[in-house]
Amino acid sequence: MRIDILTLFPEMFESPLSYSILSRAQDKAIVDIVLTNIRDFATDSYKKVDDKPYGGGPGMIMMPGPVFDCFEYVQKLSPEKDRVIILTPQGQKFNQEKANQLSKEKRLILIAGKYEGFDERIRIGLDAEQISIGDYVLSGGELAAMVIIDAVVRLLTGVLGDEDSPKDDSFSSGLLEYPQYTRPEVFRDMKVPDILLSGDHKKIAEWRHQQAVERTKKLRPDLLKNENFRSEHAGD
Ligand code: ADE
Repeated sequence: MRIDILTLFPEMFESPLSYSILSRAQDKAIVDIVLTNIRDFATDSYKKVDDKPYGGGPGMIMMPGPVFDCFEYVQKLSPEKDRVIILTPQGQKFNQEKANQLSKEKRLILIAGKYEGFDERIRIGLDAEQISIGDYVLSGGELAAMVIIDAVVRLLTGVLGDEDSPKDDSFSSGLLEYPQYTRPEVFRDMKVPDILLSGDHKKIAEWRHQQAVERTKKLRPDLLKNENFRSEHAGD
């Protein structure tokens, strides 16, 4: 997969992309992440990329020219068909299902802008999908882009070893993940449930499923209202 990011702050991405799974995925050439600075496409000597809103009001609005020029330049960097996403709190809410969908694409182009404003012609003219990571306002789309990249890249084949496959993750089955334990068997008077020490794999699988259902009922009953979940888990 190739992921292009258009941003005014490429340096913000350096640290998150340099550690752990995201770093490993790039080293193994499973994903190529390319940052392009929208400011490089400013046309005046002050490198201006935003201006006051027509009609008055606070804040500065991102001008369409540099964003369009940057986008058209980036699009030509690869012949692969792309899926273009603008990060904005006005977008569709990001979730695990969306992460799964995006992980099937060969190329993503993410556009991170200042929150106070994209000139409306950017949204209209680029005809991009708009995604929000939640109902709150960040100062820009950069952190949202990082969240999406992390959630998507860990799903790509070969990024996680078999031993930590994402199939049991919370949400992947519509349920929260079951409780997990490791050594020691007793910690501060809290004991690992006997069933996990029994070696009976069938019983362990049943127990885990039951625990996942109970935990979801208790902590996230809203997930159980989901249609897909109801048909998959009828009778639990
Ligand atoms: N930009 C500002 N707030 C955002 C949010 N909640 N999701 C995506 N992009 C954003």
